[in-house]
Amino acid sequence: MNKKTIRDVEISGKKVFIRVDFNVPVRDGKVEDDTRVVAALPTINYAIEKGAKVILASHLGRPLKDKKKAEEKGITYDESKYSLKPVAVRLSELLHKEVLFAEDCIGEQARQKVSLMKAGDVLLLENLRFHAGEEKNDREFASKLAELAEIYVNDAFGAAHRAHASTAGITEFLQPAVAGFLMEKELDYLSKILNNPEKPFVAILGGAKVSDKIPVIESLISKGVDKILIGGAMAYTFFKAHGLTVGKSLVEDGMIPKALEIEKSAEKSGVKLILPTDHQVVDSYDPLHSRRVIPIEFTTAGLVGLDIGTETVAIFKRELEGARTIFWNGPMGMFEEKPFDEGTVSIAKAVAEATENGAVSVVGGGDSISALKQAGVADKISHVSTGGGATLEFLAGKKLPGVEALNDK
Ligand code: 3PG
Repeated sequence: MNKKTIRDVEISGKKVFIRVDFNVPVRDGKVEDDTRVVAALPTINYAIEKGAKVILASHLGRPLKDKKKAEEKGITYDESKYSLKPVAVRLSELLHKEVLFAEDCIGEQARQKVSLMKAGDVLLLENLRFHAGEEKNDREFASKLAELAEIYVNDAFGAAHRAHASTAGITEFLQPAVAGFLMEKELDYLSKILNNPEKPFVAILGGAKVSDKIPVIESLISKGVDKILIGGAMAYTFFKAHGLTVGKSLVEDGMIPKALEIEKSAEKSGVKLILPTDHQVVDSYDPLHSRRVIPIEFTTAGLVGLDIGTETVAIFKRELEGARTIFWNGPMGMFEEKPFDEGTVSIAKAVAEATENGAVSVVGGGDSISALKQAGVADKISHVSTGGGATLEFLAGKKLPGVEALNDK
């Protein structure tokens, strides 16, 4: 990575603003999945050990968008569900030390809490997105955040594709601006995949919408990926493009020409694009009792495809054998609802097995990571990326504003 990191600056005794991505699922005031919090620990612990005053800032969800929607619909908006307080509790458990909390990320209260901090203290600021200035990358808001500290560290890889006040604008007012260890690790793994993958390189892409994945598919093809295995609802746009009946399965009609274009470009570049051969379907009239696995070409008008079938799992497993690099993003079916998680969980196990056999594997995206955990194989993957959109944008070859804003080496 060509950016300076927290190792390159003197942080002892200094007020260090660390942008983290603590955008985690919270239910009933408890953090449901702490993957992103755990991933930020190396940087936080390093800063504590160096005797810095550690000021952590993050977003959680999209509170102002939710508020606007609630107002339009005339329903009550509950701001408390976007509070980072539960994250402070979880972080404190993970660090085995007190984590201070400021009810607002700027203003008198935040300033006062910071002024009372001692070396090694940790303070978490309330959700940045409670202020409209964050997502607008507002200069005044960015300068108020900057006032709190002397050094800026960005460890929020998951939010690095956003040009927001805390990820980009703040660096106009707060220097030096360097990367944290998670940011460094993410960029190192993903750069290797994009620029120098060991071959054969197999990408597995799933999820509902092919439109979300087109830039990454195009980029991977141009970078010489060997195979792309496509699962999830996005496969139906390809099937419809071939004139197959897909029943009531999810299709993006507007993407049909693009799907055909991608197939052509893959063929021209010698990239194998592999689609499912069978799928789990239900009858839309009797979804509870009609579940069965059928070949794709047997799909009739009333059926909805909700997961890849057993034959497809076997084919995808075979295609992963011998892979030296694997990238996976997106579930193979309606993963959140059992038993339609079977395909995704089987793929999670297959990626883990290929990793044991020598492949470097990188998995990104919330559902794929849940599947790894459900299959009990998360620790067998070379790198579990904390980015969703950020990972895809990076692999699509785009520059990430949160990375661009950091000091070069
Ligand atoms: C994510 O969950 O992908 C990141 O935290 C970014 O969140 P956002 O899509 O709401 O900007």
